[in-house]
Amino acid sequence: MKQIFAPMEGISSYIYRRLHSGFFGGVEAYFAPFIAPDGEGGFKASALRDILPENNLGIVLIPQLLVNRPEPFIHVARELAVMGYAEVNLNVGCPSSTVVSKRKGSGMLLDLESLDSCLNEIFSRSPVAVSIKTRMGVESTEEFPRILEIYRKYPLKRLIIHARARSGMYKSPVDIPGFLSALGNAPWPVYYNGNFFSPGSAMELGLDGISLAGLMLGRGAVADPALPRSLKGGPALTAEELKDFHDALLSGYLDAGYDPRSAMARLKELWFYMLCKFPDSRREAKTLLKSQYLPDYRSAVSALFDSGKFSSECYFSQ
Ligand SMILES: Cc1cc2nc3c(=O)[nH]c(=O)nc-3n(C[C@H](O)[C@H](O)[C@H](O)COP(=O)(O)O)c2cc1C
Repeated sequence: MKQIFAPMEGISSYIYRRLHSGFFGGVEAYFAPFIAPDGEGGFKASALRDILPENNLGIVLIPQLLVNRPEPFIHVARELAVMGYAEVNLNVGCPSSTVVSKRKGSGMLLDLESLDSCLNEIFSRSPVAVSIKTRMGVESTEEFPRILEIYRKYPLKRLIIHARARSGMYKSPVDIPGFLSALGNAPWPVYYNGNFFSPGSAMELGLDGISLAGLMLGRGAVADPALPRSLKGGPALTAEELKDFHDALLSGYLDAGYDPRSAMARLKELWFYMLCKFPDSRREAKTLLKSQYLPDYRSAVSALFDSGKFSSECYFSQ
């Protein structure tokens, strides 16, 4: 089964992706965190930097767009086609209130007629293949059959299903029966996403033995960057690898011009997930997360690794 790396805003930057691929590999493609173009299709320089082909050498990258109208999608998709991209992903999943209130992300699911006409335009005019990453509803996953009816009209490159409604944010139980019902006669490759955190997750979630096009890994792969490899039967993460990966990330951000405070902030976001590999390390974790200056941060990281509390067996859980 193929594995793809989820878009993770603030986490899976081009620096992260390049190093993740070099250290661990194991994923077929990385989905870039969303680009949110304005009405004319303009977007931030930082978002452009993130998807520039020269910053993403050696990996398969699929850019993602967050829009509520077809025009900005088509505008940016044309630019992406010129850069050489062959697939663009539409974000129909983001649950944040500010996004949903603009009818973007999972807010696109609030009005299925508008969703349908937006997709109609996008699929008839996009110069590149379009895939969708979707939630199963706004209030309830019971909305999903009607949503699927709309998706079925279009030649999606693939459908990635985060098996929750928007109301579940990142916390509610995932709806596996609802997800499986979508697999039925889906005309395109379907990827599962949501709470796949460890090699035991297929069994725990009830996905064992189910034939899927692939899995999209998010928080589980951030917490344990070797998860894609382990899922393929490869060796578990070691403390040395994680330390080397961490140090390379810190250097990567500093070399890219991040000031020490911003680089540490990036790394601390990662620690929110990676600390699960260090059970019973509250004291060390607190010192690390509170450190303000680079030398203090570096010694807190060393103290954490030196504590001997690393466990390759511990995985992210909610
Ligand atoms: C910090 C954070 C940032 C995210 N950024 C994006 C994003 O830019 N685009 C997107 O489609 N999903 C985004 N997501 C959702 C993830 O891609 C994924 O769907 C979600 O975390 C569920 O998968 P998981 O249980 O494997 O983590 C984000 C999630 C988190 C926690």
